Amino acid sequence: MQVAPSILTADYTALGETLDEAIDAGIEWIHLDVMDGNWVVNKTITFGPALIKSVRNRVGKDIFIDCHLMVTNAEETWAQYVDAGVDLVIAHVEAVDDFPALINNLHEAECQAGAVLNPATSADMILPFLADLDLVLVMSVVPGMGGQSFMAEMEGKVRQFRAAIDKQIAAGGRVTKLMIDGGIKHHNSVQVSEWGIEVAVIGSGVINDNGTIKENLAQINDALGIIS
Ligand code: DX5
Ligand code: ZN
Repeated sequence: MQVAPSILTADYTALGETLDEAIDAGIEWIHLDVMDGNWVVNKTITFGPALIKSVRNRVGKDIFIDCHLMVTNAEETWAQYVDAGVDLVIAHVEAVDDFPALINNLHEAECQAGAVLNPATSADMILPFLADLDLVLVMSVVPGMGGQSFMAEMEGKVRQFRAAIDKQIAAGGRVTKLMIDGGIKHHNSVQVSEWGIEVAVIGSGVINDNGTIKENLAQINDALGIIS
């Protein structure tokens, strides 16, 4: 299982150094949490395309960047994130009216397309267009902030997606990736990897005051049995 750090709990005035440190620690994927002050329950604003463009410039072209859009108008604004240099746009299924159209638009712009669902949302909201998705993201917290407690009750939904994706791949279909986001730390990373998660977003478990990114990542990789 791969770890994608979220910079949500970073010191934004030192973001460049934090990104350098993450890459130096072996990170290959960065997760960017975009909140527009409207969509998440706590009405928070994080950052948008301008900062993402700076992140892309800082990390270079070889680091994979996704943006997790917690916004009301992903259908209108997705192109701004593509222009800012992301590899993958992940939009909330609850916030988009015509998801197949959004996937088509992203693919035509040569950007990968992902769908994310809240803890309370059923997998049935995504399964009808799974065949065209590059990634499914299961939220294991209610989106809005870092440092929340992991919802282990998401296991059933993760396993449902794992089974559907495996069936799709066995039939020669798209190799859709399965990601989880929220409350992942070294102690539950093995658990989600056993559920069939391929990429775990980790925010406060990687970027915190307890240790350096390298130390925190080493602890997670140790738990996962990954020799770095
Ligand atoms: C929640 C965000 C997550 C989250 C991850 O709204 O989508 O990416 O901040 O942070 P931790 O790992 O601290 O839960
Ligand atoms: Zn996220």
